Formats: sequence, C-alpha cells, structure tokens
Amino acid sequence: MRHFSVLQHLAGQLNPLCRVLDLDPAVPLDLLAGLLGPHGARSLADPPAWLSDIADDHSPVEFSVAFNDHEPPALRILAEVPGIAPGLGSNTQAAYAFLAANADRFGLATTRLDAIRNLFTAASPTSSAPTWPGSAAPTLTKSAATTPGGSFALWCSLVFRHGRDPEFKVYFNPEVAGISRAPELVEEALGTLGLRDAYRMMLARSIRPGELGRRDRLSFFALDLHDGPQARVKLYVSHYDADPADAARAAAVVPGVDPDEVADFCRSAGGPGPFDRRPLVGSYTLAGGAAQPVGYSVYVPIRDYVDDDLEARDRAAALVAHHGFSPALLHRCVAAVSRRPLGAGVGLIAHVSLRLGPPRPGVTVYLSAEAYDVTPPRSVWVPAA
Ligand code: TRP
Repeated sequence: MRHFSVLQHLAGQLNPLCRVLDLDPAVPLDLLAGLLGPHGARSLADPPAWLSDIADDHSPVEFSVAFNDHEPPALRILAEVPGIAPGLGSNTQAAYAFLAANADRFGLATTRLDAIRNLFTAASPTSSAPTWPGSAAPTLTKSAATTPGGSFALWCSLVFRHGRDPEFKVYFNPEVAGISRAPELVEEALGTLGLRDAYRMMLARSIRPGELGRRDRLSFFALDLHDGPQARVKLYVSHYDADPADAARAAAVVPGVDPDEVADFCRSAGGPGPFDRRPLVGSYTLAGGAAQPVGYSVYVPIRDYVDDDLEARDRAAALVAHHGFSPALLHRCVAAVSRRPLGAGVGLIAHVSLRLGPPRPGVTVYLSAEAYDVTPPRSVWVPAA
C-alpha cells in the first residue's frame, strides 16, 4: 500500500478547505510546507517524529474555521514546528526560524515577542529545572503528551482571510517551568507588556477559590505578531471538572459579555456538565491600555462529550446556525478534511468555540487532521451473543 507523506496528507486537506472558503491556496500551502520543513516528507507509515499535543493523534497541525459576525470566515492553522531532531528546545528554535524566514515578507512585528520570549523558554540556563507534578518531566511518551498542561514550549498559528496577508500568532506554555511558576511567569510577561492590571482583576474574579494551579490552570499565552490596533494578547485558562456556570462566571469579568450566552453555548456543545474529561477552556483578550479584558472566548472540547463525529457535526452545525452562520459551509469544511465516514470515529471536530467582544465575535470549529490516527467512536453496537 502506498503511504502519503505528512505534507501530502495535510495539503490534501488544506487545498479543498481553501476552495470551500474562497481563499487562494498558494500562500497557505507554501506556509504549510514551511511549517513542516523536512518533516513534511516523512511517510505516514512511520510513527510521528514528535508526540505533539496539538492533536490527539500527534499530527503537528490542526485546522480551524472561524465564522465571523462582520466579515467572511477565516481559515486557521495551529502548528508545532518540528525541529530536525524534535524536542522542546529544537522545536522552539525551528519555530523562531520559521517566523524569521517570513518576517519581512509578511511584515511581522516582533518587538513584543522579543521582550517576553525568554521568560517562556523551556529549560533556559537561567530557569530552574521544570517541576512537573509527580516529578514527571515532559518526556517523549504518550502520557506526557496528554498530561494536562501538555508538553510544548511554542506553537504558531496562521490566519488566512480573503484577499489579505496571513496573520501570525505564537502560543507560549505558561507551565513550561512548572505548574506552580505559571502565575508569576504570566504576570511578569503581562507586566512587561503593560497589561498587569487587567491580569490581576481577571485572575481575582475568574479562578475558583483555591483552584489556581489545581483545577484552574493557565494553559496558553498567545501573542499577535502584528502592530495594528487589534494586536492582542490572549490568556487561556483551563477549567477542569467545571460546569457551564463556572465558564459563565469566568466570562462575567469581561465588560459587555453575556455570561448566559457562554453557559448556553457550553451546554449546547457539551451537555450539562460536569466537564470531567478534557477541560472547558476560556480565553481573555487583553489589549493595550485597558484595565479590564476586552474580549472572552470559551472553547468546548466537544469530542469528549459526543459518541462520534456525526453527533459532533450535528451539534456544531446547530451552533453555527444559531449564531447566524451557514451550516452548509461547515458541512463542506468538514468534508474537505474528513477521510472517513463521520460515524466511524470521534475527534475530527475537536473543539468548538464562541468568541465574544472585539475584535471579531463569532464561532470557531476546530478540525483535526487525523494524519496518524482516528479515535474509535465511543459507543459501538455489538450484536448480542
Ligand atoms: N490538543 C490540545 C487540547 O485539546 C491543544 C489544543 C489544540 C487546544 N487546539 C485547541 C486547546 C483549541 C483548546 C482549544 O487541549
């Protein structure tokens, strides 16, 4: 049997996704190849070179489609750039090399990145050894890759909008030096960027009492690499064993956000809770000058709360329609990525998210590449003996 390479598989999804979303595929395909580097040529018959936490099957890339209230949908790629000999340090270096190679072409603004990047460096000479719970340092094992908090140091994301240059973002791991150090790392980074006040008020009101570093974890720190008025920092909090009401409380910190809308979205996507498998995740958009966060998004790991992707797709389509977007377009995006019947697995639709407040409210659906593996559906009918 002939096996595709990693790049062939992913390009075979990206290309039709672009077509469905009316985007020119040339730049996206070029950047996908750049993200993967020499790893793009690896055969999918070989195991992944790095057990990335980007996706359950360790594909290095995840797609998402962002339906926007006031403009056409955008296509996004989240990626862990694999180093030549993959590891946290070499992946990080490869990611910076990828960004440097594209900085001039796309006018990336790296001043803020340069100001904070050393804070979030894995095992930098100045930081002490990582202190992971149960002393399990991030290693190349399946369980480490699925450990809450995950093992990564730097991810990149690319956003493609009709007729515009792509936008670049980076994601740092606040827990890169240990769970307990995450709050201080984030505070220092946000202080450097002039956003400490918004952070303090957000923390004080959105974390359940005594749960910071326990059931409420600082999971991602995202930075836009452009200079415009919309350049943002996003801070993500994962709420383990949470109810829709917990997400609603966390959202209520943000002026103008309707907490009930957040709770309704969680329930429609994942049921009444508690969300005791993968966590509910919330993100706060922090913008220069504002003493409070300006936007909030909630991410529901829908794949843990459905039997199969048929159910996930129907729920996602209902949410998309409820928020005024086209379920038919979602169906076409799912078909572009899927390589199997939707009832034959679970996890193709990994998360669904609701974005509230500026700069772009809407709904996002995350689509797994499933380059390496498909998770079997949860309930399989077996004939009685
Ligand atoms: N795969 C990881 C997870 O599900 C990280 C991740 C990828 C993620 N895309 C995401 C987390 C979207 C939240 C939202 O946790």
